[in-house]
Amino acid sequence: MPQLSRHSEHALNPIEEEDKLSYKLAAAGRKIIKLNQGNPPIFFPTPKYTVDAYVKALRSGRTGYTFHAGIPELREAVSMRHNRLYHADATEDDVVITQGVSEAILCLNSLFINQGDRAVLFRPYYPLYNSALKVSGGQPVFVGLTEDGGYAFDSDALGKALRKGGRHAKFMIFSNPCNPTGTVMGRKDLVQIAEAAKDNGVFVISDEIYDEIVYNGAKFTSFSEVSKGIPSAILGGASKNFDATGFRIGYALINGRDKFSRQVKDKLCDYAKMRLSSNTPAEYAFADSINSASKHKAAITSMVSQIEKRVNFAHRLINRSNYLSESRPNGAFYLFPKVEMDALDLKDDRELTERLLIEEGVQISRGSGFGAPGHIRIVALAPQGVLEHALRKIDKFFVRHSK
Ligand SMILES: Cc1ncc(COP(=O)(O)O)c(C=O)c1O
Repeated sequence: MPQLSRHSEHALNPIEEEDKLSYKLAAAGRKIIKLNQGNPPIFFPTPKYTVDAYVKALRSGRTGYTFHAGIPELREAVSMRHNRLYHADATEDDVVITQGVSEAILCLNSLFINQGDRAVLFRPYYPLYNSALKVSGGQPVFVGLTEDGGYAFDSDALGKALRKGGRHAKFMIFSNPCNPTGTVMGRKDLVQIAEAAKDNGVFVISDEIYDEIVYNGAKFTSFSEVSKGIPSAILGGASKNFDATGFRIGYALINGRDKFSRQVKDKLCDYAKMRLSSNTPAEYAFADSINSASKHKAAITSMVSQIEKRVNFAHRLINRSNYLSESRPNGAFYLFPKVEMDALDLKDDRELTERLLIEEGVQISRGSGFGAPGHIRIVALAPQGVLEHALRKIDKFFVRHSK
């Protein structure tokens, strides 16, 4: 029999890892509290005007393939939104529509990476950055950020990582606001990233999928605002801000008017041609939702204020636990506490999450999947009562497993 490629072993997603077990337990009648997936529509129904726009697109026969790089209306809506929010000068030609930000990440890896090429990731990272890179044959170079250091990075460490072993990385990628830590990077940090990227000739991928989900008084700055033409891509989409994960619509907006940026754009379009088009009715509905600015503002303001309450509530409970501690998230909707593993009779965070699911019916994600062993990631989208119940169960589990 032929063998699967060596790269295919990296095709995994630690966030979904325990789904099989979870479904099995649920099928056997167990009630599972799923706090592993950042899936807003489960807790905040997609706004009616967005759903209506999708239905309208279907009823108007928008059911065929469409433009591979996205319908012009949507590419324009994305660029105008970006210009409005971040004083940029993007045009529809700078935008390529993808099947979620996930597809943009997979495509960018594939078009940058030759066997053994490097890319720089801040650690903790969103798991797809690591797996997409490795599936393409690349190697990650990590810049470690710690909770004690407020998840701030050291610019010398970043510079060294970008040219580790005398070889320059192809790109660096990070999420801002960060999944999993909820950190919102300040302008100063972004300026340092831009300078380091320029000095080392490295492309920057700034995943801004949570750019409107910022709270506790934090202010979001887009990488576009500091990039000053440095070749870079901003990623975003319908999933989180627009509460429509199932639309499977995202985009890459390429900053920079230089020759290399044009090459990246053209190649992304070639990749898009290979899979013909994105989800057609969802593209029309997303364009409509972006253009319905006042309705979107009302929907996102209400969702973010509820997320803020839920995150802060769960954060307080976490820091009351004898086994967990974390710094306060200011964006996205995740809690990423450190676990006092030495106090527990569990081998590692993988055993922790599996035993927690079996014993208490609570499904969360292991920090090692995000490059931070000894942590857990809890999605804080559920109502406070559910979060409280789950955190009590987690604490009961820790007491039972205390050494
Ligand atoms: C930082 C980050 N990037 C990308 C994605 C994937 O987004 P999409 O649903 O657009 O594929 C997620 C999903 O959780 C995410 O947290």
